[in-house]
Amino acid sequence: MRLVNEADVAGKRVLLRVDFNVPVTDGRVTDDTRIRAVLPTIRYLIDNRARVIVAAHQGRPKGEGYERAYTLAPIAYALGKLLRQDVRLTHDILGKQTTADVEALGDGEVLMLENLRFDAGEKANDPAFARGIAELADVYVNDAFAAAHRAHASVVGVVDHLPSYAGFLMYRELETFSRMLARPERPFVAILGGSKVSDKIKVIDKLIDTVDVLIIGGAMCFTFLLAEGYAVGTSRVERDWVGRAQDLLKKAGERNVRFLLPIDLVVADAVADDVETAICDVVAIPEGKMGLDIGPGTVTLYSEAIAEARTVLWNGPMGVFEIDAFANGTRQVATAVAMNQKAVTIIGGGDSIAAINKFGYNDLVTFISTGGGAALELLEGRQLPGAAALGYYDE
Ligand code: 3PG
Repeated sequence: MRLVNEADVAGKRVLLRVDFNVPVTDGRVTDDTRIRAVLPTIRYLIDNRARVIVAAHQGRPKGEGYERAYTLAPIAYALGKLLRQDVRLTHDILGKQTTADVEALGDGEVLMLENLRFDAGEKANDPAFARGIAELADVYVNDAFAAAHRAHASVVGVVDHLPSYAGFLMYRELETFSRMLARPERPFVAILGGSKVSDKIKVIDKLIDTVDVLIIGGAMCFTFLLAEGYAVGTSRVERDWVGRAQDLLKKAGERNVRFLLPIDLVVADAVADDVETAICDVVAIPEGKMGLDIGPGTVTLYSEAIAEARTVLWNGPMGVFEIDAFANGTRQVATAVAMNQKAVTIIGGGDSIAAINKFGYNDLVTFISTGGGAALELLEGRQLPGAAALGYYDE
């Protein structure tokens, strides 16, 4: 895989694929983490006098043309502010106006194409669409790690037509995960949370092959607790996955992986701000109550395991951390991860990133991944089509 700094970009039109699939509310970007993460690559291209054509998607539009809800206008504006330079947005993707906009682009200037997914050819990896966007440029750079699990035209098809390179973010993401999985410093502790076991089952299965300790939090712990024979009250469970959960517990036992589940919980009648809460042992969850956060005993158990780690992967919150009454478990786990300065600490998944940011620990962890689905697919041991297209798996 060749890196962007190996490309000759001076005076060249560079098609830069990024993942700017960021939250936008009332026309404003509310979390610009993914935009900031690509700035090193964009600045490198600007400083080296490339003519930068940024290509991105946002949301899941129908693919039948412009939809106001998914325009990249707020994102082009946010990028311009961060770069402190004008970022123009094209009106279409493959039309005459875009060709003219590209022709007018000067060295070190930045133009952004409208949402690629306004054209159905993007998601279909349509060869004509891939050729069309490639014809706008001389060089292709992919820094969209978070979209690398999508075999779309601007991620995969385009490489057939242009000399292709990885951006700095793409490289760092792939290398961080691959080093972590292939040569982790031990003990390697993975903390997985979130609401659904079904989303993470393959990741858990794969991680049991590699980690020393697996810590489970979030609502998905209840499917495992059920698999161990506990009564879980009205807590959220996926009954269809209890059998798979049992298999994973067995596999962890066979591989000598410590599989940590909550020993106590914060319970309540419902998920609400003003609800009355109680702490109970995992053996005594009252019938009408649901677990919404890990309890203090569990916090101690998990924090001690995290403190001993030399590699930590964290994906998914421990409870409903958006509500203060159920935020303590996630806050304490974030603290334990941030305080372990001897470990390589890698954070993935939107909610754990939001938690690390919310509690102010972003500068104390080693790496914050921008990839949600892409990171999970890597952790499942799958090859990402976008990385494959850049030749990442060829060596
Ligand atoms: C993401 O946000 O994970 C990527 O941008 C991919 O988005 P998608 O799931 O809509 O393909």
